[in-house]
Amino acid sequence: MEGSHRAFGVRAIQGGGAVSLLQIDNLSKRFGGVVAVDDCSLAVAPGSITGLIGPNGSGKTTVFNLVTGFIRKDTGSVSFNSKSIDGLGPDRIYGLGIGRTFQLARIFPRLTAVENMLVPVRRKGLRALFSRADWGHEKARAMEMLEFLEISHVANSLGGALSYGQRKLLELGAVMMAEPQLVLLDEPAGGVNPALLERIGDRIRRLNDRGITFLLVEHNMSFVMNLCSEVVVLYRGRPIATGAPEAVRKDPTVLDAYLGA
Ligand SMILES: Nc1ncnc2c1ncn2[C@@H]1O[C@H](COP(=O)(O)OP(=O)(O)OP(=O)(O)O)[C@@H](O)[C@H]1O
Ligand SMILES: [Mg+2]
Repeated sequence: MEGSHRAFGVRAIQGGGAVSLLQIDNLSKRFGGVVAVDDCSLAVAPGSITGLIGPNGSGKTTVFNLVTGFIRKDTGSVSFNSKSIDGLGPDRIYGLGIGRTFQLARIFPRLTAVENMLVPVRRKGLRALFSRADWGHEKARAMEMLEFLEISHVANSLGGALSYGQRKLLELGAVMMAEPQLVLLDEPAGGVNPALLERIGDRIRRLNDRGITFLLVEHNMSFVMNLCSEVVVLYRGRPIATGAPEAVRKDPTVLDAYLGA
């Protein structure tokens, strides 16, 4: 275990010769007696779909919360586009181009789907810059995204009236409205039926083709294996393996971690 962790550390620092889009170094976070993230270093290559997997409670969501500034880290550093984002709050980090979705989709139940899509534009503080005509343009962009996700027929339905899968798609669409460079997806396929699963995977791939980098947490292994170019396995808050999906899947350290958990 120690060997592969060390090997990973070297790789993370070198980043395969390319500069990382997101670089996490020696990140730690403790909640009382629980060490949720433990000296975690990992890198996300620009243009990749990188998977972050691991058993329940291994610290995946906590890594997302630390990177996006939702909670404060105990130690370590995070840089995005080679610039430190340490100490910045969620809105600043979001404004720099890191979007995220949540394990349980967070949408506004009393806003319509299309209104939900416009919240990120407001949040990014762009509203003031827009004339009425530009706002119309934003609305058209929102409709285009809803069409792309095949949920434009519910554009005027309240968020609260959408199905679970539609909420997942809406949340993905909404995060795209702020034109992020990197999107952290926390279980985009969790609890979604197989047909929708395929659509979500396909749309993530197509967004990636347009240049969006993804770091995705997911328990559905075939989803991860199909989509990701690189996978990092967390166990008790530490990366224990990294590499191509097929290699990671066969890694005995990884199999032990899952069986042990
Ligand atoms: N706000 C918090 N307060 C206390 N403990 C927390 C908090 N958030 C997470 N933890 C603990 O930290 C550990 C890591 O949790 P985390 O949610 O990051 O895991 P995860 O890998 O996302 O798990 P899952 O796959 O079940 O979503 C767990 O032991 C969890 O109980
Ligand atoms: Mg989680």
